[in-house]
Amino acid sequence: MSRGRRTSRLTTERGRAATARPASAVGAAFLFATCQVGAEPALKSEMARDWPEFHFAYSRPGFVTFKLPPAGELPEDFDPHAVFARAHGFSLGKVQAASAQQLAHAAWQLAGDRAYDRLHVWQRDTAAPGYRGFHPGPTELAAAAEQTLGQNAQAAGRGLASGQAQIGELVLDCVIVEPGEWWIGLHRAASPADCWPGGIPPITLPADAVSRAYLKMEEAILWSGLPLSPGDRCVEIGCAPGGASQALLARRLSVMGIDPADVDPRVTANRRFTHVKKRGADLRRREFRGVRWLAADMNVAPAYTLDTVEAIVTHPTVNVRGLLLTLKLADWKLAEEIPGYLERIASWGYGNVRARQLAHNRREICVAALKQPRTKATRRRQRQSVTVPPRTIRPATDAQAREEKVPARRNKTAGGRRGSR
Ligand SMILES: C[S@@+](CC[C@H](N)C(=O)[O-])C[C@H]1O[C@@H](n2cnc3c(N)ncnc32)[C@H](O)[C@@H]1O
Repeated sequence: MSRGRRTSRLTTERGRAATARPASAVGAAFLFATCQVGAEPALKSEMARDWPEFHFAYSRPGFVTFKLPPAGELPEDFDPHAVFARAHGFSLGKVQAASAQQLAHAAWQLAGDRAYDRLHVWQRDTAAPGYRGFHPGPTELAAAAEQTLGQNAQAAGRGLASGQAQIGELVLDCVIVEPGEWWIGLHRAASPADCWPGGIPPITLPADAVSRAYLKMEEAILWSGLPLSPGDRCVEIGCAPGGASQALLARRLSVMGIDPADVDPRVTANRRFTHVKKRGADLRRREFRGVRWLAADMNVAPAYTLDTVEAIVTHPTVNVRGLLLTLKLADWKLAEEIPGYLERIASWGYGNVRARQLAHNRREICVAALKQPRTKATRRRQRQSVTVPPRTIRPATDAQAREEKVPARRNKTAGGRRGSR
């Protein structure tokens, strides 16, 4: 296995976290991932592009495995940074049996005697989000399996907490692919999404939420870790009827919602909310002065969203620190364009750009982008350093790549890609 790893100027905090601790190797033969039903081809395609040494092995709707190369070991906190992988882990194998008791017994045998900190049990999605009211989330089958696995562990004298993990914990994964077929795996939690069973954040829709976009915004904030603070000014383009704005208002931000459509009176009643009944492109740039965060959730093609946002954030009088953009994939073929979308956003001066298909996304993805704050020290460093054109990505030196001990992702474009987590 090649030991190189392309890194870039845009390497995330997460990448550093994953290499800061000496990682213990797993030596598993397969990696598994769960995803939205319908996203499997997009997931396979991005894995083939970024991890050519991994080979697609097996797939069911919402569940895909990849054969890892025979030589070399990956750290427990390895992350493929795949946009469409909602959760991932190293596969220890599958168990098949008629009863939950038999399945649980066999699962613990596969788990071996590693010292796990946490148990995550979830069921692969049974339909695309929104189809006949389906939404990814906890299921009765998963809850029952978790209980049986927990009882089995106790009987064997090894208690194991379930629920949300802490960063750094070793998680035993159990994916219910069929009622009588469980896939057992493990991962070490290194990002917020790694801490959620199945990569689905434990959040619920408040009774007064005006749309499910509340959950989408809340998940985007939790996943991205953007440092939103009470009192910050935020713009949401495509805000109607107002669920996402409610999530921002609940965090005590001031929100300017831009949308030609009507916003629910429960949202407009909030004194920290202003509705501008226009299209995003129709606002004068000076109206964005003092805006710290920009969210966009328009039901338009990604290129239109990016054109609208670019015209705002690249204007000299505007200084938006971070973005949360929903890019709609009207056609799954648009998934191939994602690296280009991320490159384009990076070229606006955002040093940290990541994408993920959230559990609360439909056929769309969320992109988070963050600029480093311009302190006196960074301004001084910027003056002293040679200016690097925003589209130029510096590949890792061989020495850096060897340090990281992660197999190579093929660097197809000049800029490569950003990670998903
Ligand atoms: C998926 S809905 C947004 C849901 C919303 N974020 C929420 O939290 O309830 C898409 C919205 O985009 C709006 N939209 C479409 N094109 C737009 C544009 N050019 N400028 C502003 N809003 C636009 C539509 O009117 C529609 O309300």
